[in-house]
Amino acid sequence: MGRVGWRPWSRKAFNGASNFYASSNDRDTFGSCSGLLRHWRIRPLSKEGQEIMAFTIPEGLHPDLNPLAWLVGTWRGKGRGEYEGIEPFQFAHEIVFSHDGRPFLNYYSRSWLIDDDDEIIRPAASETGFWRVRPGNTLEVLIAHNTGIAEGWVGRFDGPKIQLVMDQGYSAPTAKIVTEGSRLYGLVEGELFFAYDMAAEGKLMQPHLWSTLPRSHD
Ligand code: HEM
Repeated sequence: MGRVGWRPWSRKAFNGASNFYASSNDRDTFGSCSGLLRHWRIRPLSKEGQEIMAFTIPEGLHPDLNPLAWLVGTWRGKGRGEYEGIEPFQFAHEIVFSHDGRPFLNYYSRSWLIDDDDEIIRPAASETGFWRVRPGNTLEVLIAHNTGIAEGWVGRFDGPKIQLVMDQGYSAPTAKIVTEGSRLYGLVEGELFFAYDMAAEGKLMQPHLWSTLPRSHD
């Protein structure tokens, strides 16, 4: 976790997230993929959009990855989670996208449960994988979780808005079973917005996570 007292988010960032949700009228509208898309608020031509246009392509990035260049880097913020049958929770969230010149992005996401004072309670879910850009603005993504689950995802991007749908999953013999999933990653007002819905353990597709992560420069 690095140095003592390190907090991978800022109060300012979280306030921003609250505003975002408040302005979407009803967080429940985030409950399904289509709901999420309807309320997506990327503004490619706004002030924030100009930042996207001005974004420098990381050195040595494979040209296939140019459409995802904005993702490369470290993003740290906070989020909330819930699921039928569990207590709602808050978490600190860090996502890192990196590359080595080959045509895929390395992806690493880790999280920590936090209390109302933003203090870390314990480490939570981690996942890592590889993102590949395919023809026609499509993506193929592999993700493996610390919980004994691995998944293949397929998706599309439209500017800085990425939607992934779970294609196939594997659960180790003692792991929980996730049968459906959808993810959104997008640049919303200059921050990485992430949302994850799943159907797991025999329950219907429903939201599990949503977080907002400012870009980290350290
Ligand atoms: C930021 C990442 C995440 C955090 C902080 C988080 C946190 C939690 C918490 C606190 C619980 C309830 C208690 C527990 O089992 O520990 C839970 C349950 C669960 N999570 Fe997550 N989770 C995250 C990501 C994921 C992902 C990516 C998956 C899918 C592979 C997932 C699948 C599940 C499942 C299947 C359950 C159990 C639900 C049930 O028993 O009905 N979680 N999560």
